[in-house]
Amino acid sequence: MSLPLLKNTGDLKGKRVLLRLDLDVPVLKGAVQNAFRIESARETLTFLREGGARTLIIGHIGRDQKETLRPVFEYLKQSLPVAFAETLEDARKKMAGLSAGEFLLLQNLRSFPGETKNDVAFTKELASLADIFVNEAFAVSHREHASIVGVPALLQSFAGFVFAKEVEYLSKVFTPAHPALLILGGAKFETKIPLIERFLNIADDIYICGALANDIYRARGYETGVSLVSDCKISQALLESPKMHIPSDVIIRADSGNEEKGADNVGKTEKIVDAGSDALADLRALVEKAAFVLWNGPLGLYEEGFDQGTIALAQALVECDAETVIGGGDSIAVVSKLGLLERFSFVSTGGGAMLEFLAKQTLPGIEALRNSASRK
Ligand code: 3PG
Repeated sequence: MSLPLLKNTGDLKGKRVLLRLDLDVPVLKGAVQNAFRIESARETLTFLREGGARTLIIGHIGRDQKETLRPVFEYLKQSLPVAFAETLEDARKKMAGLSAGEFLLLQNLRSFPGETKNDVAFTKELASLADIFVNEAFAVSHREHASIVGVPALLQSFAGFVFAKEVEYLSKVFTPAHPALLILGGAKFETKIPLIERFLNIADDIYICGALANDIYRARGYETGVSLVSDCKISQALLESPKMHIPSDVIIRADSGNEEKGADNVGKTEKIVDAGSDALADLRALVEKAAFVLWNGPLGLYEEGFDQGTIALAQALVECDAETVIGGGDSIAVVSKLGLLERFSFVSTGGGAMLEFLAKQTLPGIEALRNSASRK
């Protein structure tokens, strides 16, 4: 069933809209460091403003209840008529005074215990503040939280512009142009197994890198030293698949300094921190022959300065002829710093949500919108 879309809401003038955004952006000394997620909602914000809606923006930041959305408020204030509400009571009062085209931002949703519990009373209170609900937070739509699955059960609900684009674009990934290449980096193998298994039937090549590759080295009996590994058990079918590739050489960090060496030659006290130059040449060759590439997760420990592999991959992808889809906060952070984001065919705002969508072809937040439409 197709999604109910914001562009089909009809007359919005004076309507109270509850807008769920992904405002989980990096903040340093009270200022937003990277506004990619906020800016990706710009079309939806402009549509609501020009349509004359009275919009209550809700979102979370971080996982600590004490984190504040004030820096996001300061950022939004530069381009929107927006006020701030600390509590639901405050929001109720301020919503009553809001004029057409104006916005109100509620404090960090996760400072309200009912949000992550999908608490019924909290959900009802949130829903009572608006006439319709819009989800423009694809990146959070794998969470069964009040603002993702609770509210759409109570209000007529719609997908924002980017949310709809995410679902449309990422759905194409299940029938890609061939040769199709999946590149998966980062950590937490166990969370990526369903996705890898699904893509063994879809992709022509799967390149596993970052800390994920350490788990494969270990399963193959290689020494991984003090590198990051998980407890995950990897199936024989996956280990033996001819579609699976891993870096043949790596950069290691040891007390004596950094060194490039074969992945089967890592010492007990060494730590794998990036892919080696042979590995990058192999990966470049796979990218060059691909017609479709999906990439999620960095190749190395980029947050500690080992970003050479990730940068080389980003360069190869923007220079290739393939359709390129990228997602995941860490890969996007690197690519955005290089100023290359616009050269990808599609940039997903989702990290965990993108991975779950690719594994299951749906998300709780998508189902909630569809169910809302079917109740109409
Ligand atoms: C993200 O940062 O990927 C989204 O905002 C979801 O955040 P969460 O993983 O804390 O739910």
